[in-house]
Amino acid sequence: MSSKFQRLAIAVACCCLLAAPAASAGRRRAGEAALIDTLDALDRAVAFMGGHSETANLDGGIGLRTVEGQFGALLSNYWSRLPLWLVARLKSIQQRASLVAKETAKAVQKNTPVYYANAGQLIADHSWDIFFPSRRLSLRFAAALLEEAAATREAAASGDNQEEDGFDEKFSDDCIHEFYGKYGQPPCTISHRCWDAMVRSEGRRDYYLTHQVFYLLSGINANCLYNLTELAQSRPASVDLSGDGSPLQRLLDKFCGRILVAAAEQEAAGFPVINRDLFMEQIGLCSASGYVAEFGQPSWRRAVLSWQQANGCYGAFPNELVARENFNPARYGNYRRKRSEALMGSGGCLSHRTSVALDALVGFTRQQVEHLLRR
Ligand SMILES: *[C@@H]1O[C@H](CO)[C@@H](O)[C@H](O)[C@H]1NC(C)=O
Repeated sequence: MSSKFQRLAIAVACCCLLAAPAASAGRRRAGEAALIDTLDALDRAVAFMGGHSETANLDGGIGLRTVEGQFGALLSNYWSRLPLWLVARLKSIQQRASLVAKETAKAVQKNTPVYYANAGQLIADHSWDIFFPSRRLSLRFAAALLEEAAATREAAASGDNQEEDGFDEKFSDDCIHEFYGKYGQPPCTISHRCWDAMVRSEGRRDYYLTHQVFYLLSGINANCLYNLTELAQSRPASVDLSGDGSPLQRLLDKFCGRILVAAAEQEAAGFPVINRDLFMEQIGLCSASGYVAEFGQPSWRRAVLSWQQANGCYGAFPNELVARENFNPARYGNYRRKRSEALMGSGGCLSHRTSVALDALVGFTRQQVEHLLRR
């Protein structure tokens, strides 16, 4: 095992160990101060989106709906145990995000009607409200994941090194569309073609892998839990690393476990600029799936906070070249490395990137709130 891989193994193992902090007033104050930093960053990002809703794209709305839904869930679950200032702050950010999401949805409908017709349900009112209880990945499971990652690494080293993750945005959106009733079909009519490609496909990386989680989260949020569970039983995955919990839970364990290894690799590599967008998406999706402690690591939070621009947005990094094709609103699909992108205002602010940053910040907030409650 290479030393880089050993460090990665230790990082992943640490993610899976329960930290047992000593309860003290000083620690609590430090925890609250760090939480306020996260909320300030979130507030500024939502305010930025509010000032630029005309130029947002559909992905921008997803981050706002996540704030709306997940802050709402935090409040309903924990309000009676939270300090009043925190309840008030969460509520005010949630209401603002909700308003801005509405404006964004209107603009998306006007600016990109075709895209909106296919995927607009993803930014409908309260489309991301479902709360996934926090869940830990076990150490034994982490060991299985690392073994899998080492095998993949060896396969890659022996020549079969794919450049692309094979992700097709249009196909993925079409599959999500099935949850809402595509072409007059009843909602939750899930084709085997979509199920097999989005769930049973193994060995996926990068945006394809995050979209395997996105697919399941969308389906559950679209009220297709029963139908998805049925499929998970009748057409199970060929690889089941976890063996614990409901079939859908095990799928999420597997995908988010793989994503955890990939995210830890980003940190080990010094957060390369090219993967930061993906990194924030990884944190946002898997925190929303309940792997809150694993993905809410303080060093990851500090990195994401440090990438915010002074005006609240997230945009191009110095010397980063964002492929121009990503900005063509008429183009659907063929986005090679990321979902479609839209420039917002000046300063290189990006809609998708600000949205995935919101998702990650929501995950950090939840980790910090739950951490506060454990003391
Ligand atoms: C999905 O599951 C529900 C709940 O049992 C069922 O009533 C519905 O018919 C299913 N939908 C499809 C399209 O199979």
